Amino acid sequence: MQLHEQIKNKAYSPSPERYKQMIYKRCGRSGVLLPAISLGLWHNFGFTDSFENARNILKKAFDLGITHLDLANNYGPPYGAAEENFGHILKKDFGAYRDELFIATKAGYDMWEGPYGNWGSKKYLTASLDQSLVRMKLDYVDVFYHHRPDPNTPLEETVHALDLLVKQGKALYIGISRYSSEDTLKASEMLKELGTPCIIHQAKYSMFERDLAFDTLDTIQKAHMGSIVFSPLAQGLLTDKYLNGIPPQSRATKSQYLKEDYVHQHLSKIKKLHAIAKKRGQKLAQMAIAWILNDERITSVLLGASSPQQLEENVKALAQTQFEQDELQAIEEVLKG
Ligand SMILES: NC(=O)c1ccc[n+]([C@@H]2O[C@H](COP(=O)([O-])OP(=O)(O)OC[C@H]3O[C@@H](n4cnc5c(N)ncnc54)[C@H](OP(=O)(O)O)[C@@H]3O)[C@@H](O)[C@H]2O)c1
Repeated sequence: MQLHEQIKNKAYSPSPERYKQMIYKRCGRSGVLLPAISLGLWHNFGFTDSFENARNILKKAFDLGITHLDLANNYGPPYGAAEENFGHILKKDFGAYRDELFIATKAGYDMWEGPYGNWGSKKYLTASLDQSLVRMKLDYVDVFYHHRPDPNTPLEETVHALDLLVKQGKALYIGISRYSSEDTLKASEMLKELGTPCIIHQAKYSMFERDLAFDTLDTIQKAHMGSIVFSPLAQGLLTDKYLNGIPPQSRATKSQYLKEDYVHQHLSKIKKLHAIAKKRGQKLAQMAIAWILNDERITSVLLGASSPQQLEENVKALAQTQFEQDELQAIEEVLKG
């Protein structure tokens, strides 16, 4: 075997310091603690991405104490690729650490052709989790989410499917994603009656996208669930990345979910927020994360990353999550403006 092959295949040994700096918060009233910063595999883990980079991001995450990893059936491209790559990386590098990881996957968006590969039927959800487990080479996931509400399937059916998957031992806990306040309450009550509490709610939330209405956060708390928020950096807008234009290889150049126009529309706010962060002695990304965690109701911030360095920089946000009143006010003025 060539030397570089040997180096590549050398067993990963995680940092012994990995639990020293991360903050862990209880997820609702469950027994589970989640890291204040979690990692999502939506982008950068597909077959078109570098496998070695994906592997290095995951190793860095674990070294930083990020124990919670968030996937979905359709993360790629192509659909399923992120789970498949993750399965290989788990086997190669994390075989001995499965019990130190809290792994989530989801189903609810289009996954396969025909009438049974989308939305919230029992038929779709049960088949999808079986497929996810095969791709990830896992016996069970720690949390299985319904990825989005389905207006045409009775909530009872979706909830019964989720309960069944827990009773079958294929998922330990249930989560819901993008559910309104009203549906969150209904789903959580139904699941409670079935003896399978729903422990976590996932929604989009950042300085730029504050759709997660305050009543939803209150409902989540009343339902004794934890709250994890995705795209906390507005997909990279709330970083230094776009201050001087749109760099090649950035998400705005290659993802259908982040349009260049959207970047341009936000540029003046990004610059003003960057100045506030600088005054606090933080990077903009760190301030954006701290701003979210400043709300006690939020359990974990679900980041994406295209390099290990980004994660390293972003986790430093935890060193300063407090804000002075005038800083919060200045941020609010920028966001309203
Ligand atoms: N439930 C749902 O419906 C749903 C929907 C969307 C996402 N999610 C979950 O949420 C996770 C996170 O979403 P997201 O990736 O949109 O989160 P995000 O943290 O807002 O954006 C991550 C992107 O920002 C850029 N970035 C991060 N740190 C940076 C830094 N320090 N400096 C410069 N650029 C930086 C990188 O993009 P570049 O490629 O430009 O470097 C990175 O890939 C997903 O992976 C997924 O697990 C869930």
